[in-house]
This record gives sequence, structure tokens and C-alpha cells, in this order.
Amino acid sequence: MTIETNLQSSTAQSTGASALEAINITKSLPLSGQRIEILKDISLTINRGEFISIIGPSGSGKSTLLGIIAGLDTPSTGNVLIDGVNITKMNESQLARIRNQKIGMVYQAFNLIPTLTARENVEAPLYVGKHPGKPSEEAKKMLEIVGLGHRLNNRPNQLSGGEQQRVAIARALVTHPALIIMDEPTGNLDAANAANVLTMIRDLQTQTGTTFVIATHDPNVANSAQRVIRIVDGRIAE
Ligand SMILES: Nc1ncnc2c1ncn2[C@@H]1O[C@H](COP(=O)(O)OP(=O)(O)O)[C@@H](O)[C@H]1O
Ligand SMILES: [Mg+2]
Repeated sequence: MTIETNLQSSTAQSTGASALEAINITKSLPLSGQRIEILKDISLTINRGEFISIIGPSGSGKSTLLGIIAGLDTPSTGNVLIDGVNITKMNESQLARIRNQKIGMVYQAFNLIPTLTARENVEAPLYVGKHPGKPSEEAKKMLEIVGLGHRLNNRPNQLSGGEQQRVAIARALVTHPALIIMDEPTGNLDAANAANVLTMIRDLQTQTGTTFVIATHDPNVANSAQRVIRIVDGRIAE
């Protein structure tokens, strides 16, 4: 698969701040009269253009942490800076804007809209907020970059799991976000498709300078990143 080097990433052009900074994040939730601590004083910094993985067993807090980093959930205490901007005290409409402009999300279950074609799924985020270019052309370009130029008009149920995940990655990339966050992106794929998707992520990262954060319980997936952060029982383990 070829990745076009002319894919411009806003990430590579920005100023000094880290792509992501999480500072003393905690998350506790009430559970049958008590409070359970899901995240315990998590701090981490991810540099622009880095590809990092967060590995930990099921229930260790990975998805909770990703939700907080993505501005979908709020921490009980602590702060999250995306591209140097503190998102923790933002209201819902400010957060929606940041998520649309600076963050791309990819999930285990692909989460494509079943009634839309591949191209229409990738276009969708471009109709929210302001983005340069014509949505259908930008979507086509991005699908070509992930090797699906021949699948523009297929609906999700006409695509393999690996192809659906590549559509989801194209949708995450199409707004040129500072940060792409992936929660178990290979969890629903067989070994060959998982390897294919990981190779594609590495190519996109080296050739576009986009920052990738992947959460996984699978050491093989985690080890394809440049840096591995281990989380055990809601805490970063050294
Ligand atoms: N909304 C919630 N209410 C109560 N407990 C939750 C909630 N969300 C997550 N948890 C608990 O928090 C812990 C971490 O969950 P999660 O972040 O999904 O872990 P992981 O993604 O690493 O599997 C688990 O023990 C889970 O049961
Ligand atoms: Mg999870």
C-alpha cells in the first residue's frame, strides 16, 4: 500500500507544545455506596508525531483514560492539554469543536454508519466545523491513502473487517487532527488484517507526522509502537 507523502498534517506544522499532556488524572465513580478509583494519579506526555501504545489487562482503565484524553469524559481531578490547550474546563460546545478539529477516534467495533458508503462515512466529520477542500474529494483522497480507492461506494456490510477499520482510520484522519486515539483497533481483526492495519498506522505516522495513541491488551500490538506505557489497576506501572 502506498501512502502519499503530500498528505499534510497540521501536527507537523504546529508550535512547541506536546500533542497531549495528561497531568495528575484521577477518576472515581460511586459504586454501591462507596467510591471506586478507576484511574489513580496518571500523568503522561506524548510528543508530536509519536506513536505510543497503552497496554494493560482488561479492566485496568485504558478505555476510561482514552475517553478522558479525547474529551468525551471528564476526570475527577487533573488536567488534559491537547496541542497545548487545556480542555478540562471547557463546556460541551467548546469540547465538540476541539474533538472535531484536533482528535480522531478509532474503536474496536469500527463504528461506521451502516447506511452510508465508505466515502460518505469519511466525509461526515468534514460537514462539522470548518475544513478546507471539498468533502467528497478529501474523503476520496483519504480512502486512496489507506488503500481503498476501489471501495468508495461500498457500504460497511460490503467490506471485510480489515477494510472497515481502514475506512474508520480514514475518517479519523480526514480532518488532519493533532492526535489519533485508537481503542483496541485490532481487537475484531484476524492476525493478518491486524498486522496490515498496524503497518498502515506506522506508515501514516512516519510519513505524515500524525500522533497516534493505541490502547490494547495485546503485547504484539503494543510493541509495534515506538513507546509502550503500561497501565495496571488504574496506575502507570514502570
Ligand atoms: N461507568 C462505569 N461505572 C462503573 N465502573 C466502571 C464504569 N466504566 C468503567 N468502569 C470500571 O472501571 C474499570 C476500568 O474500565 P476500562 O477503562 O473499561 O478498562 P479497560 O479498557 O482497560 O478494559 C473496570 O473495573 C470497569 O469495570
Ligand atoms: Mg477497554
